[in-house]
Amino acid sequence: MKIYIETYGCQMNVCDSGKIVHLFANQGYQPTSDSRSADLIVINTCSVREKPELKLFSALGRYIPLKRQRPELVIAVGGCVAQQWGEKLQQRCPGLDIVFGTHQLDHLPRLVAEVRQSHKALSATDFLDCPGGLEVMARPVPDAVSAMVTIMQGCDNFCSYCIVPHVRGREYSRPSEAIIEEVRMLAASGIKEVMLLGQNVNSYGLKASGEISFAKLLNLVHEVEGIERIRFTTSHPKDMSDELIAAFATLPKLCPSLHLPMQAGSDVVLKRMGRGYTAASYLEKVEKLRRVVPDIALTTDIIVGFPGESEADFQQTLSMLEKVGYDQIYSFKYSIRPGTRAADYDDIVADEDKRDRLARCQALQDEISQAVLLAQVGKVVEVLVTGSSKRGEGEWSGRTPESRIVNFPAPVSAPAAVEIAAGDIYQVKIVKAFKHSLRGEVVVDAGS
Ligand code: 5AD
Ligand code: SF4
Repeated sequence: MKIYIETYGCQMNVCDSGKIVHLFANQGYQPTSDSRSADLIVINTCSVREKPELKLFSALGRYIPLKRQRPELVIAVGGCVAQQWGEKLQQRCPGLDIVFGTHQLDHLPRLVAEVRQSHKALSATDFLDCPGGLEVMARPVPDAVSAMVTIMQGCDNFCSYCIVPHVRGREYSRPSEAIIEEVRMLAASGIKEVMLLGQNVNSYGLKASGEISFAKLLNLVHEVEGIERIRFTTSHPKDMSDELIAAFATLPKLCPSLHLPMQAGSDVVLKRMGRGYTAASYLEKVEKLRRVVPDIALTTDIIVGFPGESEADFQQTLSMLEKVGYDQIYSFKYSIRPGTRAADYDDIVADEDKRDRLARCQALQDEISQAVLLAQVGKVVEVLVTGSSKRGEGEWSGRTPESRIVNFPAPVSAPAAVEIAAGDIYQVKIVKAFKHSLRGEVVVDAGS
């Protein structure tokens, strides 16, 4: 039996898809990249931005007809769009066998078995106190260096533009013992880097009685032998505690890189977004972080064209980009999410203004990113090798602790016995900066 899985959206979905593949591997399914040879097709959807239904409907338009040649083919849709639409998705798309919500991931094998018996469409989208699937552990990909570990799910912030609290449900923190056990298992299987995942990791544990704080959880992960690097995402600036900022100073394995979504630079817009901070208080957090880790690499999310955003408001977003000097930004045109508070705001920004602002925002950031990368030339940095480079034979690729991509050739002077492999750590001198990556030369073989 073969499973084909298509994943849209965030790292959380990528992580969930890994768990689905794992669940079905236990049932004898092999993953395939060819949808036409699959016995089970799963589409893991995202509804955060753009027109998520369009992408899904077009995928279903391709896959449902495959059932004519393969009557035993089962098609399932999960994730945020599935949560929102429920069985209405099946009314709209006859032939779609299963709709499973964001708390139902671990029920998918049972749902597939039932559909194979009854040949009737099923949907399961209830929210649970403890989202199912959080305790499913994905088997690490062979030769992988990094792995994602979900530590919490859901969000209670209800930013006015955001669908996530509506489709992922309330914040739930996974027990710290289970998280540490998973990290230990990953380390034992050769994983060197863990990325702790959640919609708002900074509020980990706060609402679970007797649970430790996120900063304390980082301390425990830090103690796991074999783990060399720790990262986490996503953080909310308002919950970036002093205890967490201090962790960057005390935990050497905690990488000096942080994704800190700013969304907008204007206080008026931030207030209407319901973000709970001002541009000044955001900058204060950045300054605090930089006092602790002067070279911390920051990335952010930006929304342009939020209802009511004036040109002057937008200029303040540009000014924040200059003040902070992000490595990279992820910038989006605001798009209405039905059911959110901002969907009722009527001072809509014209699409051409949104497009124009997005282009200006990205052009400015391109210059900033380029300057950040150029400043790396001449420095010696630590690179964790992630695999061979796309550039071809003898070329390797890895990441610095700041998460910057570095490509480098295998050192010719290395002893013949030393072979570079994913998971090795090398000191690399940066010799050139490209638009999104760096090029370097190995200077000291620090071994693996
Ligand atoms: N429109 C545009 N961007 C959005 N995001 C979330 N909701 C919307 C929306 N309605 C962006 C935010 C968030 C990122 C994951 O997606 O920037 O941080
Ligand atoms: Fe959405 Fe805001 Fe929660 Fe992030 S913090 S998931 S933007 S509601």
